[in-house]
Amino acid sequence: MEGNSCARGHPDERNPSTKIEIEGPTNMPRKALIAANWKMFKTPAEAEAFVDAFLPLVAGHTRDEIALFPSPVLLPAVAAACSGSHVAVGAQNIYFAEEGAFTGETSVLQLKAVGATHTLIGHSERRQYFGESDAIVNKKLHTALKHGIVPVVCIGEVLEEREAGKTAGVLKTQVTGGFAGITPAAAAAIVIAYEPVWAIGTGKTATPEIAADAHRIIRAEVAALLGAEVAATMRILYGGSVKPDNATALISQEEIDGALVGGASLRPDSFAAIVKY
Ligand code: PGA
Repeated sequence: MEGNSCARGHPDERNPSTKIEIEGPTNMPRKALIAANWKMFKTPAEAEAFVDAFLPLVAGHTRDEIALFPSPVLLPAVAAACSGSHVAVGAQNIYFAEEGAFTGETSVLQLKAVGATHTLIGHSERRQYFGESDAIVNKKLHTALKHGIVPVVCIGEVLEEREAGKTAGVLKTQVTGGFAGITPAAAAAIVIAYEPVWAIGTGKTATPEIAADAHRIIRAEVAALLGAEVAATMRILYGGSVKPDNATALISQEEIDGALVGGASLRPDSFAAIVKY
């Protein structure tokens, strides 16, 4: 494990012959994060039943980080059920103001107070249905970093953009717009989730090669913006129809540092199978 690979943790558990040295001033490993995005599903009782069934399935499974992202109303129950375990809990969204007259929104302070240590920002459903622009993503990212909550910034192209050959441009715009004004020191906490919109909830997964290609584009943009060191250590997750049967091929790509899982994270057995890819 003291090797020079810049891959996320435990390359020796996979295929030692595929260890790849990547250029950069650091050899810090990237520990994979396997994250469950429950979207607008489950009641508190169902969420607790999930955690009760899930924790024994992943007991002792500390190779990677694990996090659950339930609706805000479920956070207290899920955080209580996960307390003392190695499973973290995050929000699916935050508002950029700390408090105020913003009916229906939830602040980072409120979310932290009920146990969230992470938050998704700019999920494609937020962008698509709730008009979240890169400028809003950027404001939310500044707020999350200010309050020490780990931001998982979601980016990805829609089908028409991919078919028109615009994927690289879209990803660069989302990274530059979303990360405006972020310093390299602050950026160290950020996780990116690459989620091609055409693969979310559709059963169509990007091939490991397509995903790795997009991840390389994203990492190069992060390097241009924030420097090689930040880029080399930043975790980039893949999301979009990750299932137990495709998780290994995706996550064992050198460039892919974990997964953001929607549909297949709703059942303890299938999410545990993904965690154990
Ligand atoms: P999916 O969702 O796994 O159901 O495609 C992923 C996501 O939206 O984060």
